[in-house]
Amino acid sequence: MADETAFEKPVTVALTGASGAQYGLRLIDCLVAARHQVLVLISKAAQMVIATETDVSLPSNPERLSEALKERSGAAPGQIRCFGREDWMAPVASGSGAPSAMVICPCSTGTLSAVATGASNNLIERAADVALKERRQLILVPRETPFSAIHLEHMLTLTRMGAVILPAAPGFYHRPQTLDDMIDFIVARILNQLGIAHTLMPRWGEST
Ligand SMILES: Cc1cc2nc3c(=O)[nH]c(=O)nc-3n(C[C@H](O)[C@H](O)[C@H](O)COP(=O)(O)O)c2cc1C
Repeated sequence: MADETAFEKPVTVALTGASGAQYGLRLIDCLVAARHQVLVLISKAAQMVIATETDVSLPSNPERLSEALKERSGAAPGQIRCFGREDWMAPVASGSGAPSAMVICPCSTGTLSAVATGASNNLIERAADVALKERRQLILVPRETPFSAIHLEHMLTLTRMGAVILPAAPGFYHRPQTLDDMIDFIVARILNQLGIAHTLMPRWGEST
């Protein structure tokens, strides 16, 4: 049994089926490096996107998935915990057990819509619903282009409820040289929102 007090505050990270799986995978690695415990939820569509966009091979069984992510990121035993899509007994499914912060990265427009309307049809949607009802930190990283009125209205609804919409829209002013530089641009923004120190890239106004 892992000593959970050995970790910094837990953060829930959900990967859904929008393009940009790399952002979510890199976020998990950075949270692990910062010694946070990470509760991971991966949708079925996200598994397809990961297989399409990356060379990372991840099993769907939650125990085996935890092990695979632990191997990838060098996490300590118990630092990464994965849960199945209908595991209603998971800590994230209740206000009494859920972490104080949740990031959906990347966030599909389907999950965005479900969260905005409180559908709670799977564990990712339920965990986001819990974050909203408990007034906890909820960050959504949507990726779609162009956005429809439905997407924009859902984003406005969620912003008004206190969630942060942080679109996967990397800037170019830091002169990215590699894909990793562009991924880190977004992951740095997420870590800034979470108040977690990092050295991925300097903040605006800081020297390089
Ligand atoms: C390779 C691939 C790329 C996709 N890219 C996007 C995308 O960028 N944005 C989006 O909202 N949906 C995208 N989709 C569609 C979603 O995966 C689909 O709507 C799915 O139902 C979302 O389910 P989820 O929210 O449970 O993960 C993509 C699907 C695949 C297979």
